[in-house]
Amino acid sequence: MTSTLRTGILGIGTRIPDNVLTNDDLARIVDTTDEWIVTRTGIRERRLLSPGELLADYGAEAARRALDNAGVPLSEVDLILACTYTPDRLCPSLACDIHHRLGPELGSAAAFDLNAACSGFLYGLHLADKLIATGTHRRILLIALENHSGILDFTDRSTCILFGDGASAVVLGPVEDGSDSGIYATCIGADGEGTAHIQLLHDGPMHPESPHARNDGQPYLRMNGREVFKYATRVFGVALDEVLALAGMSTDQIDFLIPHQANMRIIRAGAERIHIAPERVVMNIERYGNTASVSIPLGITDLLAEGRLKKGDTLALVAFGAGYTYGAAVVKW
Ligand code: ACO
Repeated sequence: MTSTLRTGILGIGTRIPDNVLTNDDLARIVDTTDEWIVTRTGIRERRLLSPGELLADYGAEAARRALDNAGVPLSEVDLILACTYTPDRLCPSLACDIHHRLGPELGSAAAFDLNAACSGFLYGLHLADKLIATGTHRRILLIALENHSGILDFTDRSTCILFGDGASAVVLGPVEDGSDSGIYATCIGADGEGTAHIQLLHDGPMHPESPHARNDGQPYLRMNGREVFKYATRVFGVALDEVLALAGMSTDQIDFLIPHQANMRIIRAGAERIHIAPERVVMNIERYGNTASVSIPLGITDLLAEGRLKKGDTLALVAFGAGYTYGAAVVKW
């Protein structure tokens, strides 16, 4: 019989931009108000990359912090997995750009990008868990990172108020013998019916005449917020039920729920549906907006920084996003 290894999060590191954009700043750019944004989304401010800054630099910095935190040397990393739908460029991959920045000590570690939009971190965790459990890889740098400021249309008030930027990395590897920490279950899924509702359009064969390009010719994000809202509130509970069943656990065994931070109202509705107390639900959308794939590791970073996350605590993670995609995981810290 082949035994499998349990994957653990050995370290975590985050790098968010210094540049803060408040709701009042946005109200000077588009027809909106702080009151509308706070009431409808819970967002008060977000961090954005400054012109000329590259996501690859943020990813490399987050990776170095995660390796330091884990006490794992760069030379042991055998795979870099970058989860993003907003890379600096399409090819070469952002993971290879990060590889280049981290330097020769990495040797021939593999590197590639994964695009599952806001569910990216959980898709990446799902895949990395299998690669470690089967012994295929031993030290994986899983990096979630997004540059929304590069793809938003700052004349479209229905999208530009929602998003923020940043990078967060985890080092994954087998847990030590006898430890009960690590990943207990993951699940991922998709629903192609959602393809029409969130799109990031490039000049490509799907859109030869580029009808939705911004005036500067760059692609931008379009979203049917009401449709996404309906999907998100429904799939939130579905994904959590699925992953808890896989882990053989119930909601009352969960110390913290860390949901994707897309909208405070979606999080509250989802948490109510699964009967989890508000104080056990991590909410930081107020300070960062929707950072897509970054929001879950950013939630873990905040819990740690606040001294609330203790060894042995059990986390439920859940996300949904463009595609549609969804993912969930149960992790013991
Ligand atoms: N300021 C002021 N008014 C606004 C703004 C704004 N920034 N944006 C829209 N409005 C107006 C609309 O024009 C509309 O006016 P009308 O009634 O006169 O037509 C009114 O406000 C209501 O608009 P709705 O779109 O119905 O507002 P809603 O309450 O649905 O909130 C929101 C919009 C916040 C986008 C919400 O639908 C939402 O959060 N949806 C889910 C988004 C999400 O989860 N995305 C995650 C995936 S993203 C990814 O994967 C990349």
